[in-house]
Amino acid sequence: MSKPDVLAVAKLHPFYRQALDAHYTVHDRTHELDPVAFKQIAPRILGVAATGESPVPRSLLQSLPSARVVSVFGVGYDGVDVEAALGLRIPVTHTPGVLSDDVADLALALVLAVARRVAQADAFVRAGRWPDGPIALGRKVSGARMGIVGMGRIGQAIATRAQAFGMSIAYTARTAKGDLPYRFFPDAASLAAASDFLVVITPGGAATRHLINASVLQALGPQGFLINVARGSVVDEQALIQALTEGKIAGAGLDVFADEPRVPEALWSMPQVVLTPHMASATTQTRQAMADLAFANMQAGIEGRPLITPVPEWTASAQR
Ligand code: NAP
Ligand code: 8YV
Repeated sequence: MSKPDVLAVAKLHPFYRQALDAHYTVHDRTHELDPVAFKQIAPRILGVAATGESPVPRSLLQSLPSARVVSVFGVGYDGVDVEAALGLRIPVTHTPGVLSDDVADLALALVLAVARRVAQADAFVRAGRWPDGPIALGRKVSGARMGIVGMGRIGQAIATRAQAFGMSIAYTARTAKGDLPYRFFPDAASLAAASDFLVVITPGGAATRHLINASVLQALGPQGFLINVARGSVVDEQALIQALTEGKIAGAGLDVFADEPRVPEALWSMPQVVLTPHMASATTQTRQAMADLAFANMQAGIEGRPLITPVPEWTASAQR
């Protein structure tokens, strides 16, 4: 008997791909690579496998009359047209929670790396420059003020870690969290003005596009550092480059970019910036946990069983 068909809309992580291959016939990006063949298989596709950023537009969903689930390998699902999926009654799932620790760990790694000049110092030693003089002083992290933009699962994990560094913690989000012991600011600019390190960890998409703009960077000020582990779209990248060039902020740690995997060349040579290739959840342990959850959601969707982690919009629509 032939295996049920699923469509991979992006190059999948091998852990997710291997799990899918064992149970399904995976059509790897056929909609883009071979549109003629895709027309033949589209009516048979039962599930769509996506990554955190891969586009799943309305037109694609409409071409899949048998689709029973879109299973995203990632907590963010800003590439998926969720409204269209809801309209077509195709559930969307994601992988919340299992990656929060790793993303929070990397956020703190970037805080430490930019403030304590870790990458710069490593290059300094490797270039044989140590005998010629000391490296410039860094900025103390312990006891500093951290502002977190987005106080969800990952924002809270970042706050817990920052507390261990004796940092004071404040945040902004859509709603204040009365149960958390941190100061709430109603917007990113007022939070930035009260922060030494501004850490961005909201979802991407239209609602948060350029939430961090020139005014927020101005408010962060020449002693302030920006850390972005959310999505490139949340920060106005041109405004950030300008602020860094003009010394309007002290530095930045960036895991995500507006047009990945392309990173603006202007950032490459800036010593006050640390750049990582969207790797906040990239540990063997977490990628395995993400793959297990994404696969379990795919199977549940295809087999008509309750989904494990549907996106909140789906849960809300099912309750209506
Ligand atoms: P979450 O639990 O849903 O938390 C999201 C937080 O963002 C919430 O506090 C939410 O506010 C806030 N928020 C949403 N829209 C906002 C807006 N317009 N203005 C201000 N705050 C807003 O999600 P999570 O699990 O923490 O994940 C957050 C995001 O991190 C993901 O969506 C993804 O984009 C990113 N991420 C990146 C990586 C990476 O590799 N770099 C890895 C994983 C995740 P409320 O609490 O008021 O709703
Ligand atoms: C992944 C992410 O790197 O979960 C997310 O939202 O951005 C990351 O964990 C990405 O989704 C891999 O597909």
